[in-house]
Amino acid sequence: VVDIGKLYAQADVFTYDPGFTSTAACESAITYIDGDKGELLYRGYPIEQLAAKSHFLEACYLLLFGELPTKAEMVDFEHRVTNHTMVHEQMHNFFRGFRRDSHPMATMVGVVGAMSAFYHDSLDINDPWQREVAAIRMIAKLPTIAAMAYKYSVGQPFVYPKNSLNYAGNFLHMCFAVPAEDYVVNPILSKAMDRIMMLHADHEQNASTSTVRLAGSSGANPFACIAAGIACLWGPAHGGANQACLEMLREIGTVDRIPEYIARAKDKDDPFRLMGFGHRVYKNFDPRATVMKESADEVLELMGIHNNPTLQVAKELERIALEDDYFISKKLYPNVDFYSGIILDAMGFPTSMFTPIFALSRTVGWISQWREMIADPTQKIGRPRQLYIGKAHRDYVPVANR
Ligand code: ACO
Repeated sequence: VVDIGKLYAQADVFTYDPGFTSTAACESAITYIDGDKGELLYRGYPIEQLAAKSHFLEACYLLLFGELPTKAEMVDFEHRVTNHTMVHEQMHNFFRGFRRDSHPMATMVGVVGAMSAFYHDSLDINDPWQREVAAIRMIAKLPTIAAMAYKYSVGQPFVYPKNSLNYAGNFLHMCFAVPAEDYVVNPILSKAMDRIMMLHADHEQNASTSTVRLAGSSGANPFACIAAGIACLWGPAHGGANQACLEMLREIGTVDRIPEYIARAKDKDDPFRLMGFGHRVYKNFDPRATVMKESADEVLELMGIHNNPTLQVAKELERIALEDDYFISKKLYPNVDFYSGIILDAMGFPTSMFTPIFALSRTVGWISQWREMIADPTQKIGRPRQLYIGKAHRDYVPVANR
């Protein structure tokens, strides 16, 4: 590996690489992707094994600390996380300042950014202990904040965390429990939610993670950095794709309209893209999509959803696209977002909650990457160069002469 940056800086030249398609901006030991093989490893462990045998909170420990925990370490970690699931009562007041019809992502960007105003005792990025406390706080509080954003958007009272439940089950409880009614978390739904969280936990230097690192490279506090990541994730080309995908499937509506949308996706003059298809790195298949598809089948079976028109459109669209020369030649396969929206819809989440659920799941990845960067003594402030295409030097003309 050559540090091209150093060499080029000495020679006073730079590379032009829009979208950073072939430029590594950091070293990282957290997540490995082989796009050609369709392989995803967290700290060396294949995602398929973790999805089948582990659970989200264990994966959080692994991503944060580099190794799988022992039994005692897991108990301690779980205890530390559950200790922080509540948010300060003043944050409830802060929530109430938002319009009630705000998109939950808008609320989350604001509330997570504002955590730096509420938790002063974990802002010192030079103190490793404070960095760890900030990480635990965010992993613990993001589900609470996402659930509060949801409850607020539907005009229901906030539901406090129930720490006797597991991480995913607690999130479902905070979203779906209502006062004076019993809510029992279904174990199949809880497992499916845990899997969604696991599959989204980290994905190396994607747009939002790079945003977190770039923000963090200036020494900004961790809450501000994660808020920046959430803002970036919101876009439809990234985390917003799960919402956009389900909306697209609904717009297509019936199987007979699929050819029209396939034709639009191929038309160079039409900006339309098939949402949930394609990936910058995976050019064979997205291993997360395979696991997610299994979960979709389990959840739909449980909910007794067999002839749902959206699901029929999704299955047929996938079949047609996978046999189509355009999609084959451009290596466009369904990505994780193609199936996650179908599961979340079946669970009862509105589309506006899809990206917040992605955000709370990715928080552990963002904060692990941020910690790795801060602990690296060679890290520098991120400062891309540009290829200037504006006017050359020219002299100012007074307004009377223009
Ligand atoms: N539908 C139709 N054509 C597509 C699609 C699509 N979904 N994705 C890419 N293409 C085409 C492009 O038009 C382009 O064609 P060209 O070579 O003739 O110009 C070619 O495939 C390459 O596309 P790029 O945009 O250059 O690929 P890039 O790696 O930059 O984009 C991205 C990847 C953003 C994911 C893209 O495939 C896309 O927009 N997909 C739809 C949105 C989506 O599902 N995003 C979720 C990504 S996964 C995640 O964030 C968890």
